[in-house]
Amino acid sequence: PAALRRAARRVLLRNWTGASTVPSHGLYPHQWSWDSAFIAIGLRHLSVVRAQRELETLLAAQWGDGRVPHIVFNRTVPLGAYFPSPDFWRSSTAGAAAGAPADVETSGIVQPPVHALAAWLVHEADPAESARRGFLTRLYPRLAAWHGYLAGHRDLGGHGLVSMVHPWEPGMDNSPCWDGPLSRVEPAEPGSFRRADLDHGAAADRPTDLDYGRYVRLAADYRDHGYRDADTPHAFAVEDPSVNALLIASEHALAAIAGALGADPSPHLARAERLTGALVSRLWDADAGLFLCRDVRAGAPVRERSVAGLIPLIVPGLPADVADALLRTAAGEHFGLGGAVRLVPSYDLRGAAFDPSRYWRGPAWFNVNWLLERGLRQHGAPERADALRAAGLATAYASGFSEYVDPYTGQARGTRDFSWTAALALDLLA
Ligand code: DGY
Repeated sequence: PAALRRAARRVLLRNWTGASTVPSHGLYPHQWSWDSAFIAIGLRHLSVVRAQRELETLLAAQWGDGRVPHIVFNRTVPLGAYFPSPDFWRSSTAGAAAGAPADVETSGIVQPPVHALAAWLVHEADPAESARRGFLTRLYPRLAAWHGYLAGHRDLGGHGLVSMVHPWEPGMDNSPCWDGPLSRVEPAEPGSFRRADLDHGAAADRPTDLDYGRYVRLAADYRDHGYRDADTPHAFAVEDPSVNALLIASEHALAAIAGALGADPSPHLARAERLTGALVSRLWDADAGLFLCRDVRAGAPVRERSVAGLIPLIVPGLPADVADALLRTAAGEHFGLGGAVRLVPSYDLRGAAFDPSRYWRGPAWFNVNWLLERGLRQHGAPERADALRAAGLATAYASGFSEYVDPYTGQARGTRDFSWTAALALDLLA
C-alpha cells in the first residue's frame, strides 16, 4: 500500500495544472467535468485545499442557465492537441444566449452530476477547514443551479427523468446502448474534422470514425441552435440509469450540504424521492434484473445490458427487492463479479457487441468499480465490496493507473497515469 500510495500521489501531482487536474496530459489535456468530481474525491486525501480548488475551478465555468460544461478549456494548450477544440464549440459566442461565460471557453454539453457528492466528501475530509474557507457556502448555490438545469431543461421524456443528448454526456461514449439511437444520426463528412485522440490512443481501444462522425454532427447541431434545449431537435435523447442514479446520490448530498449550512434540506430530499420513483417505474426491468437505458426518441427501452444498469446500487432509498436483484445480476454470467472477471466490465460479457479492449464496449473502468464498491457496501454486501476494493487497488497499480483494463486479465488499455484511476485508488486505500 505504501508504494501504491506514493505512485498514485505522483500521478495526481504531475497532472495538476495549478487550478485543476488534467485526466491525462496527452489524450485529455483540459479539465473534464465528471473526471474532476472523481479526482476531487481522491485529492482530498492529498490536499483538501486542492480538492476544493478542483471543484471551484470547474464550477467557475458554469453557464447562466446552470449547466456545468463537460470540458473547461485550458487556453495555454494548442488548439490541435484535442478535438473538438474551442473553435469548434465557440461557447462564448454561440452559447451567449444560454449564459455561457465570456472569459473562458468550454464545451456546450454536460457530463454526469457527480459534483455534489464529491463536494460533500471533500467537505467531510476536513469539516473545520471547509467551514473556515466557506467552501460549501460558495458551492451550494452553484450545485443547486446545476441540478436545476438538469431538472428544468432536460426532462425530454416528460416523466421526471433527465435525458442526455449526446453520447459524450453520460460519459460512456461508445456504449453499445447508443448504437440504436445513434443509427438515426447522419454522420458528419469524414474529411470535415481531424481526430486528435488517435495521436495518443490505440485505434482498437477507441471509438470508430463512424462514431466520431455522429458525435460531431450532434454537437454541431446543438451549437447551431445556440445550445438552447428548447430549440434544438436533439436527434439523440436517452434516459440513462447511471446518470439519473448519480443525480439522486448527489441530491442526497445536496440535502446534507443544505443541512450543514442551516438551510432546508427537504426540497432536495423530495426531489431525490421523486427521481427514485421515476427511475424504478421507468427504467427497471425485472426480467433482465437490471435497469435499462431508454431511447426517448424511439419511445422504447434499449435491450442491452450495460453496467449503467447496475450503478443505481448507489441510490440510498432503492427498494430492497430491486437492490437484491441487482446484486444477483452483478454476480451472474453477464457481469461476473466475484467470478469470471477481475473488475466489473462496462458491458455484458455475453453481449454480441462485447469487446474487452474498446473503451465502453467491455473494458472495466475504475470510476464504475468505485461506484459499485460503494453500492455493494450500502446494500449489505460488505464481503463482495472488500474483494472488489482489493481487486481495484491491485489492478490500478499493476496497470500503471491505466484509463481502463481488459476485465478478464486486467491488462492496461487506453492511456496510462490516468487521474481518476489514481485518485480513486487513493480513496479506496483511505
Ligand atoms: C473523449 O474525448 O474521448 C471524451 O470522452 C469526450 O469527452
